[in-house]
Amino acid sequence: MPEEMGPPVPDSLDKIAQEVGRCVACGLHQGRTRAVPGEGPLHARLMVVGEGPGQQEDEAGRPFVGRAGQLLTDMLRAIHLERHEVFIANVVKCRPPENRNPTPAEAEACAPFLARQIALVDPEVVLVLGRTAAEALMGPGVRISAIRGVWTTLGHRALMPTYHPAYLLRDPRKKVETWEDLKRVAQRLSIQV
Ligand code: URA
Repeated sequence: MPEEMGPPVPDSLDKIAQEVGRCVACGLHQGRTRAVPGEGPLHARLMVVGEGPGQQEDEAGRPFVGRAGQLLTDMLRAIHLERHEVFIANVVKCRPPENRNPTPAEAEACAPFLARQIALVDPEVVLVLGRTAAEALMGPGVRISAIRGVWTTLGHRALMPTYHPAYLLRDPRKKVETWEDLKRVAQRLSIQV
């Protein structure tokens, strides 16, 4: 019996990562060094969703390894979480040229991967970093400054939108509000900070 006629293979994070590595659904694949599917444990209690890989992530094949990634690591530590306990993903899995924002069409082409990751990981809380991630998960036209800090839902999951760490590097004053949002996440996960 040909393989494609066999029983359907159950979805898994590895399967998604392999498909991401072969994906040609939008033009971003042309410029990638490595695709960045995301990483973290199945059933992580917290999932973080960023925008898309930058240069260092594109070279490493891993999310949030550059300066913004270091800040994200510090943000997670502030609520007593290590990176390896958290699933870290992006809206788009390949680097947009010159670090421009992904277009709506690129985000849409990549959306099924993120949806499958969220379904598999099934986190209690999704921390939504910045406008691109907020638009992908909450709908177009949202302003992060207007919606940050306010719980919303995606199915049975709780979503907390906050500022993107790259934005915090440009405007460190916004760290005060971000810390309030992180404390909300910690409280939801019953973590004492
Ligand atoms: N910014 C993002 O949104 N994602 C990364 O993986 C790195 C930087």
